[in-house]
Amino acid sequence: MLMQQRFSDYRLFWREFRQTFQSTGALLPSGRLLARSLASRVGTADQPQKILEVGPGTGPVTSRIISRLGPDDRLDLVELNERFVDLLQDRLENDPHWQTAAGRIRVLQMPVEEVEAIGHYDVIVSGLPLNNFSCELVERILAQFHRLAAPQASLSFFEYVAVRKAKSLLTKHAERRRLSGIEQLLVREFDAWEVGRQCILANVPPAWVHHLQLPGNAKPENNPESVEPTVAGQ
Ligand SMILES: C[S@@+](CC[C@H](N)C(=O)[O-])C[C@H]1O[C@@H](n2cnc3c(N)ncnc32)[C@H](O)[C@@H]1O
Repeated sequence: MLMQQRFSDYRLFWREFRQTFQSTGALLPSGRLLARSLASRVGTADQPQKILEVGPGTGPVTSRIISRLGPDDRLDLVELNERFVDLLQDRLENDPHWQTAAGRIRVLQMPVEEVEAIGHYDVIVSGLPLNNFSCELVERILAQFHRLAAPQASLSFFEYVAVRKAKSLLTKHAERRRLSGIEQLLVREFDAWEVGRQCILANVPPAWVHHLQLPGNAKPENNPESVEPTVAGQ
């Protein structure tokens, strides 16, 4: 990526961190090694894969996913924030690396909770800052990942090392209860479905990447409830 592009991504990310802290949830876009680990389940199957990236932001993980996309793979990007959506659209039109796969990539501007493609995705990669959300929202999002997953789909997501512990030390009782509720929800998922985790120390801040294999819903063709996701602006 051009240095100029990287600085302009950092600037936008920093602005969104200040203006929409709750949903942006990080000071900086993910670094190279974190992006590489998050994208590592893409391109690992013999069959074409349908891939969902949730919360791509300025697209550092998307770039790695694009590098690993097979010729018949398809990628949906679901992003809440319209400034990030504009940037993603712009990269699809103007970034030579992204253009190589632009015909197989769609940008959906919506919260992931509203995506209706039940059982659709073989790989889900999430950049959501779950530790910023209420327990109810985290529970809803985790249930949504299960709904969207095809059988044996992989789900990869990250959280910063010791983030809940650090926040708990500095906050009041209600906040500690919220963080402990999120921990319980995540531990339940890890105990049932985690197949690997990786600590990325060379990231600011360092992060854990969790890889889960979900039982998933029926494939769309077997599932009358399943529909193609709606795409913004198409
Ligand atoms: C921590 S940033 C991660 C950005 C990027 N994946 C990275 O690693 O640099 C979280 C992203 O999730 C998006 N987001 C937050 N809540 C969302 C939701 N409910 N549905 C879709 N995107 C959401 C934010 O707008 C932001 O782009």
